Amino acid sequence: MTAAHSAGCFISFEGIDGSGKSTQARMLADRLRAEGREVVLTREPGGSPGAEEIRKLVLEGDPDRWSAHSEILLFTAARRDHLERTIEPALKAGKIVICDRFADSTRMYQGLSRGDLRALVDELHRLMIGREPDLTLLIDMDPAKGLSRALGRGGSEERFEGFGEGLQAQMRAGFLALAKEYAARFTTIDGTRSIEAVARDVHAAALAHLPQVAAR
Ligand code: ADP
Ligand code: TYD
Repeated sequence: MTAAHSAGCFISFEGIDGSGKSTQARMLADRLRAEGREVVLTREPGGSPGAEEIRKLVLEGDPDRWSAHSEILLFTAARRDHLERTIEPALKAGKIVICDRFADSTRMYQGLSRGDLRALVDELHRLMIGREPDLTLLIDMDPAKGLSRALGRGGSEERFEGFGEGLQAQMRAGFLALAKEYAARFTTIDGTRSIEAVARDVHAAALAHLPQVAAR
């Protein structure tokens, strides 16, 4: 089911809560569309009807609602559905897929936050998902700033944001380590600047990558 050589381009945004991923994903989609490209803007957990239902199960309710292992399975089930029904068809049609979070979030949140489950996350990813984005944009951000932005938004999806600044600091360090581990597909962008300054760097990184994909 891998689409590693599909004509489209798969771009993911990663980073801690409140770092500006959703804002930047939307702006990049708008800008690429204005340049005449076909873009599918999507998110995880979610991005397909079934995966959006799983989103409610994992993001709402008591922080202890799921065991660490059940949670990994739920995120992976959501991702598999999203991949089959939204991402792969769009890539096969030659579109650019921009996804707000993907498997790197599971490597961090489920792989690190509740014990060292990274090997399990990676093994399940290999078995059930089997592909990475072509380009991952890591919006790097001081956790205190990210958390106050994320909590400022309000809403009911606070199972992970409720974990607080300590977890966000661990996630930030983890994402930076992941960017080194997968250096070929990661670009790290300083998210502490103005929305427009971050958006310029995001667009430049995407453009630098797109011709490469088109030439495959
Ligand atoms: P994420 O998707 O990473 O959680 P959002 O894009 O939802 O982050 O941004 C969180 C909040 O911070 C939103 O209210 C958004 O308008 C604001 N925000 C995003 N980027 C910036 C920025 N560069 N400077 C100031 N505020 C920002
Ligand atoms: P998201 O809606 O992107 O939150 P935010 O905009 O605040 O960054 O993601 C919701 C939460 O889900 C976020 O706290 C991270 C968590 N998450 C996981 O724990 N594992 C995953 O695989 C994904 C995709 C998200």
